[in-house]
Amino acid sequence: MTGKIGVGYAYVSDIEKEYVNEALNESRLSQGKMVYQFEKKFAELHMQKYGVACNSGTSALHVGLEALKEKNGYCQPEDHEVLVPAITFIATSNAVMHAGLKPVFVDVDPKTYNMDPSKLEDKITEKTIGIIPVHVFGQPCEMDAIMEIAVRHKLWVMEDCAEAHFASYKGKKVGSFGEIAAFSTYVAHTITTGVGGVITTNDRSMMEIARSLIAHGRACTCEVCLASDPRKVCPLRMETEMDKRFMMLRLGYSYRVGELEGAIGLGQLENRQYIMEKRKANAAYLTEHLQGVQDYLQLPYAPDYVDHSYMMYPIVIKNNAPFTREDLTHYLEERNIETRPMLPLLNQPIYKKLFGEIEREYPVAEWIDHNGFYVGCHHGLDEDDLEIIVRAIDGFIASFG
Ligand SMILES: Cc1ncc(COP(=O)(O)O)c(C=O)c1O
Repeated sequence: MTGKIGVGYAYVSDIEKEYVNEALNESRLSQGKMVYQFEKKFAELHMQKYGVACNSGTSALHVGLEALKEKNGYCQPEDHEVLVPAITFIATSNAVMHAGLKPVFVDVDPKTYNMDPSKLEDKITEKTIGIIPVHVFGQPCEMDAIMEIAVRHKLWVMEDCAEAHFASYKGKKVGSFGEIAAFSTYVAHTITTGVGGVITTNDRSMMEIARSLIAHGRACTCEVCLASDPRKVCPLRMETEMDKRFMMLRLGYSYRVGELEGAIGLGQLENRQYIMEKRKANAAYLTEHLQGVQDYLQLPYAPDYVDHSYMMYPIVIKNNAPFTREDLTHYLEERNIETRPMLPLLNQPIYKKLFGEIEREYPVAEWIDHNGFYVGCHHGLDEDDLEIIVRAIDGFIASFG
């Protein structure tokens, strides 16, 4: 990689180009066989029966929540609370509010930065209906403990896997623990379609609701109806007095993707092994070569029963460090190494407006909000890039004696 060492990277191989050309040659740009193949394969790779591709990870979360609402028959959604971690990309808790529900934050674990199961039960009230564990930075949450609490309190679980494609916990893929899961395939994510998202589930009725919701709430979501192919006729189409293709059952959205995204996604999936191996090797290199700075910097921690997919490489400045996060990140940025803050949430201006000054009630999240950042460990970085990162961090720390 030349120039800036960025936090994200989109690798487009000849396979994606071939599939995109195939889609273009078919003259079919809206949803069709590329999308269906992509979502089927994506779901299978996460141990789920059904996948529904949509236009963003945020849409996937929103639709997932609306499907859960419909399935569970919530009449007054505003009375219901959903538990979300106090460190996540803002889209997770925004989606809860878009669905008319109330997010209730749970502090995170100081080593994994994921929702801390030991803090979960304190937040459960008679209004709680579900939990959204978010596998941040590619690190799977403590799913045994979370699922045990969910089952005991009769709560649904929807996993936010936007940052953790193909990661697994005790041999089980993320996205296969709860009723439904949401992924993002936005450009810096492990598998990308440019912009996009995927909803996965094992529940046929949830898949059907999700498919209907992303397409204006249509009654029939079979491939023939959605494809609007005049040469094929869905046997159910004329079953009612209104053509089922144009009969709307729900207050739906227009969250679909087209064949070009499907084609890119399909190609990306064929490259997944290369992408994953390179990311993990890059993260391992950084961890191995940054051992000497651990007095002041906390590096990622992954217990041996998780398979971390390293969407990025998170670092948190320890409290005893004689420098601030900004001192270090400015130093790195000046050396062309891109850094980003580690998903600050409760100190966002909009959240302060909505929820007040609640950050201090979440001490671990507060520490991360002010001391956490990440650098890239993606498949576009080679050993020279990683060495530049290591040398820069070493050099910065050495300057403090
Ligand atoms: C944890 C998490 N959830 C949800 C999203 C939203 O995905 P999108 O940007 O595709 O809407 C992201 C995006 O980065 C994310 O990191």
